[in-house]
Amino acid sequence: MTASEKLAELLRLNANTAVVVHDPANMFYLTEGYAGEGMVYITASRTVIVTDFRYTEAAEKDAPSAEVVMTDREHPGTKRIAELCAQDGITEILFESNYLSVDSYEKLREALGDEMSFAPLEQAPQKLRQIKTPAEIVTMRKAAAITSEAFDAVLPKIRPGMTEKELRLELESIMYRLGMDAPAFDTIIASGVNGSLPHAVPGDRKLQKGDMITMDFGARVGGYCSDMTRTVALGEPSPEMKKVYNTVYRAQAMCEAALAAGKNCFDIDRLARDYIDSQGYAGRFGHGLGHCVGIDIHEDPRLSPGCHDILKAGMVITVEPGIYLPGVGGVRIENTCLVKEGGSEPLTTARKELIIL
Ligand code: GLY
Ligand code: MN
Ligand code: MN
Repeated sequence: MTASEKLAELLRLNANTAVVVHDPANMFYLTEGYAGEGMVYITASRTVIVTDFRYTEAAEKDAPSAEVVMTDREHPGTKRIAELCAQDGITEILFESNYLSVDSYEKLREALGDEMSFAPLEQAPQKLRQIKTPAEIVTMRKAAAITSEAFDAVLPKIRPGMTEKELRLELESIMYRLGMDAPAFDTIIASGVNGSLPHAVPGDRKLQKGDMITMDFGARVGGYCSDMTRTVALGEPSPEMKKVYNTVYRAQAMCEAALAAGKNCFDIDRLARDYIDSQGYAGRFGHGLGHCVGIDIHEDPRLSPGCHDILKAGMVITVEPGIYLPGVGGVRIENTCLVKEGGSEPLTTARKELIIL
């Protein structure tokens, strides 16, 4: 069954309803490979990519099971959608209320006329995307293997005097050589005191002896992301930072061991939070424990205090506790894991024990 057929089944689409998709991640998923701009129109019996000249050939190649309709100056995307609706006798549109801008929504309404009714799609494609197929898991394994290998390969290159930006360049070059299509997100390199910034932007700070260095990086391969973080020490760290490392290490290992189909996301997050608080770091782990990964780097469900979803086999989720001490530094350890019945499997395989360079 194709992804758009799965969507039609999930929504029990009747003959008078069409789905119009604008979110690029949903377009990629539902067409099984189209990564250009435009819109995707889906009914119970057809999937149509509506795009301009720049992407028409790519759409035909990358999504052979979809039809492709080209837009031009006289026939913009909204007009093409109106034509498709007229051909198919569509009276209702399901649209991405969480994604579409107010302007785009109004343009679509204007093109389709007052008779057309509109209803939110309620993130139905994202719900399908939560459970990865065996083929998606194969691709995500490749993406995760690139990050694990790149971590091992970058370690001998880390030296005092090198800047955070230079380290990012080394790491990303290695990932490209290993087959990454693009970074999955902006690489984070946080050295020394910068380690207290969970999403630090790599800067001109030079690495120094005694620094802890947090590297949070991911590879995009075949449209899918990996996500991993390791913190290493450049020379002997302070006893305080060693304790921080051991606390994060234990929290990470404990939560990864607890991960399994049937568990509540809230409970897994709670395990890490209670343990970190009990070690004297209350309030210093201020983000969620993890998030699902796939075509987007951050997908639902989340391991967080606000998510009570139940984990299911086939979800791919990160486990990434951290401790952040302003003016001192920080540590985060993150694996991307596949949820299974009775347990989980880390797709990130790099070692997690403290490495002192
Ligand atoms: N790299 C962003 C994150 O770990 O969520
Ligand atoms: Mn990350
Ligand atoms: Mn992450």
